[in-house]
Amino acid sequence: MEKDINELREIITTSNRVTVLTGAGISAESGLPTFRGADGIWRNHEVTDVATPQAFAGDPELVWEFYNWRRNLLSKVTFNDGHKALVKLENHVDDFTLITQNVDGLHREAGSKRLLEIHGNLWDVKCTQCGLLNLDRSQDMGRLPKCTKCEGLLRPNVVWFGESLDPDILGKAFDAARNCEVMLIVGTSGIVQPAASLSLHAKQGGAVVAEINLEKTPQSGHMNFVLTGKAGEILPMLVESLD
Ligand code: OAD
Repeated sequence: MEKDINELREIITTSNRVTVLTGAGISAESGLPTFRGADGIWRNHEVTDVATPQAFAGDPELVWEFYNWRRNLLSKVTFNDGHKALVKLENHVDDFTLITQNVDGLHREAGSKRLLEIHGNLWDVKCTQCGLLNLDRSQDMGRLPKCTKCEGLLRPNVVWFGESLDPDILGKAFDAARNCEVMLIVGTSGIVQPAASLSLHAKQGGAVVAEINLEKTPQSGHMNFVLTGKAGEILPMLVESLD
């Protein structure tokens, strides 16, 4: 693997257009459970009970209980060396895009700027009546939080199962995948669309594609590099020669 890391480092450090896609795996070393791992959060909470528009319409208190639990969990953790390595990379690449499926906001906290949060952000809330968007970092939003402007019910501004992704953000993500020279796919199981197809678009556009994951995924077959290990260890090695 050392040879692969050296080779990929050389490619990355001489590229002007780099795109990265991250998933829950990059935040695992911060202490957040992944979705589908052994300690995946859905073991105790059926996703269909808590992360769909239907669940929210039927039982908004249960959904808010779940999101308050996640807010609380998040408030106890911070970004790790993997997140930091991507900030360093951003600072050295002319055309850089970080696409994340994570709603934990840890890339933002670490300092990533050219960031597309395609599934939203857990700290953002949106009024279901007037659409007002607000950042609210409360650990506990209460049972049924209300909009300060119109008293409408607030919801987490995240994309739930069965909802569409913001077409503008998604368009930018596909452009960044198609137009890059190198794409890194970090800590994602690669089974949730449309994010899962981004690496294929990059490959078809002529990019070198590399996967960094604890294990092989359905995407591994079309990767130029498959680096097996922890994101918080491999990413710093890839950017170590950048100052
Ligand atoms: P998953 O839980 O499906 O996958 C996490 C991936 O990270 C797995 O492939 C693990 O092998 C890998 N992994 C775990 N720890 C790692 C580490 N330290 N370093 C590197 N890799 C590691 O999470 P996602 O792929 O992010 O969508 O899930 C995608 C989407 O499915 C989520 O955004 C969410 C979920 O349903 C929505 O909420 C809309």
